[in-house]
Amino acid sequence: MADIDYLKEKFLSDISQASDLEQLNEVKIAALGKKGAISEELSKLGKMDADERREAGQIINSVKQDLNFALTERHATLAKQALEKKLETEKIDVSLPSRPSVHAKIHPLSRTMEEISAIFSDMGFVIAEGPEIETDEHNFTALNIPPEHPARQEHDTFYLKPDDSGERPVLRTHTSPVQIRTMRSKEPPIRIIVPGRTYRSDHDATHSPMFHQCEGLVIGPNIHMGHLKATLIDFCRSFFGVVELPVRFRPSYFPFTEPSAEVDIGCSREDGGLKIGAGNNWLEILGSGMVNPRVLENCGYDPSTTQGFAFGMGIERLAMLKYGIPDLRTFYDSDLRWLHHYGFMPHDVAGLHTGIV
Ligand code: DAH
Repeated sequence: MADIDYLKEKFLSDISQASDLEQLNEVKIAALGKKGAISEELSKLGKMDADERREAGQIINSVKQDLNFALTERHATLAKQALEKKLETEKIDVSLPSRPSVHAKIHPLSRTMEEISAIFSDMGFVIAEGPEIETDEHNFTALNIPPEHPARQEHDTFYLKPDDSGERPVLRTHTSPVQIRTMRSKEPPIRIIVPGRTYRSDHDATHSPMFHQCEGLVIGPNIHMGHLKATLIDFCRSFFGVVELPVRFRPSYFPFTEPSAEVDIGCSREDGGLKIGAGNNWLEILGSGMVNPRVLENCGYDPSTTQGFAFGMGIERLAMLKYGIPDLRTFYDSDLRWLHHYGFMPHDVAGLHTGIV
């Protein structure tokens, strides 16, 4: 047993001399690891006779226990030392100035779309979507704008290459085609809004080739002009935050509605400034009307039992009016100084929704 005494002394000395956790682990492996010296002694027991094995087994196991104990103690000491060293070297200088944090801002168009969606979702509308590359049928014909119709010229349409059937797809010129898609796939009642991107070949201070619209559609058995008026008056007052905002319905024409009305809100234009909700001037903000019976028929509905109203608004225009943004092109310049000025903090926008289903 001279060997085991020697090993015990050697490992105890190695343990006490280990100067860090890594070295200590090496000693542990050399002594008690699978191929360690003590484990090797234990494996020799199998070849001994019973008495010898009992005696040697006791001695080796007690050495093993002693080593384990010494290892645990040394580990605690070294771990403590390591922590103290770390605390010493990683001291934080709290007097250093912090790095400036740059806040991202929400784009005014996103904010405006959120506001519009929140107001209509409170009234029970749900959001519908459709593709930006549309068929001529959805964008025009089913909306009662046949090929020879003059309204087609007004839309400055972007046409794509003809597909296999010879049809030219279009970049949708308005969000109205989603009316058709919804009516063709759903039974009434319908109550949707459709915020989304639209395209026309037009570019100046108040037009951009890509812009945003929000369409609205309500279909049901007894929907009438009174519902249209109440919904849009409530929307305008809520959006501009003016309880008594004057709202006027002016007869107009759209191929997909009959009768049609443009909606104006009261404003004043004094000293070059525009004030919404006061004065004796009017500002046009959206188009609307009772869905044309031809459109209902095109979607497979019976106009004698089903009717509804629709409306459409330009989101850029509403954002410019509400937030005093003079040039539409600046929405798409990606100028961070502009965004910092006109943008919104995320918490201003979060939680606007209360009723999305
Ligand atoms: N689609 C029209 C446009 O782009 C806007 C519009 C007007 C939509 C009246 C409607 C509506 O649904 O009823 O100018």
